[in-house]
Amino acid sequence: MSVFKESGHLFRLAALYAVGTLTFLFIRGVLVPKSFGQYGHYRGNAITEIAAHPIHFAGHQACDTCHTDVQQLKQSGMHARVNCEGCHGPLAKHADDPSVQPAKLDTAKLCVRCHAASAAKPRGFPQVAALDHSNGLPCETCHKPHSPAISAGGAK
Ligand code: HEC
Ligand code: HEC
Ligand code: HEC
Ligand code: HEC
Repeated sequence: MSVFKESGHLFRLAALYAVGTLTFLFIRGVLVPKSFGQYGHYRGNAITEIAAHPIHFAGHQACDTCHTDVQQLKQSGMHARVNCEGCHGPLAKHADDPSVQPAKLDTAKLCVRCHAASAAKPRGFPQVAALDHSNGLPCETCHKPHSPAISAGGAK
């Protein structure tokens, strides 16, 4: 047919496209991990890999079961909503085996991590210029870490 007389270039283009597609499928087959798409648009194996990470945090419920006294004191004060490991750091090993001693905390570093005055913090958040405020004394000289507010009726 006269229409296809000069059609060689169309077949060459189609062949190039087919080779391109096959190359793409081949490379994709080699590179995409086996478990991809098992559950969704991600590697299915990623779930078991993440679940196998060692656990570092015990969660405050664990602390509360053994340290009920601390929990109750904290519950009644201004640090009620600051969880144990937010200050004490990850302690899953200690919670599994209490003979593993938690590290002593250095309040000179700990307290200013949250309370150092900064213009970037919400105005309502309690913050102090640490050196002026404490005169270089350790924070726990005046504030109980588990119940930090100082008021006429005693620490809260
Ligand atoms: C299975 C019970 C148990 C669990 C769970 C547990 N602890 Fe303990 N913890 C102990 C015992 C027992 C001691 C050592 C005795 C003591 O000093 O009170 C201790 C000691 C500590 C100390 C040191 C006390 C000191 O005098 O220096 C800290 C801090 C502490 N625990 C914090 C935590 C935190 C935070 C958690 C939660 C992540 C936690 N514990 C979970 C039983 C437990
Ligand atoms: C705002 C920070 C902060 C939070 C929140 C906090 N702690 Fe503490 N905790 C401290 C500091 C500071 C000390 C004194 C220094 C030290 O022992 O490392 C301390 C001491 C302790 C001690 C030993 C001395 C004592 O007072 O009995 C235990 C046990 C303890 N914490 C358990 C807990 C548990 C359990 C929780 C959660 C219910 C908790 N802490 C939450 C800062 C905190
Ligand atoms: C992880 C962050 C964090 C750390 C660390 C921390 N605090 Fe706090 N603190 C808070 C939060 C949150 C509040 C409650 C703020 C609120 O409810 O407005 C608070 C409240 C307080 C208050 C009460 C302020 C008031 O309005 O009366 C004092 C005092 C205080 N903290 C002192 C300390 C001291 C001392 C330490 C070190 C032992 C410490 N904080 C460590 C987060 C922290
Ligand atoms: C010499 C005693 C003393 C020392 C040391 C001290 N404070 Fe205070 N702090 C106070 C008193 C008194 C108040 C006012 C009463 C209150 O709000 O609890 C206060 C209030 C605060 C408040 C609440 C401020 C507000 O605007 O609501 C924070 C936060 C605080 N202190 C953090 C710290 C930190 C962090 C340290 C350690 C760097 C520290 N304090 C050391 C006595 C002290």
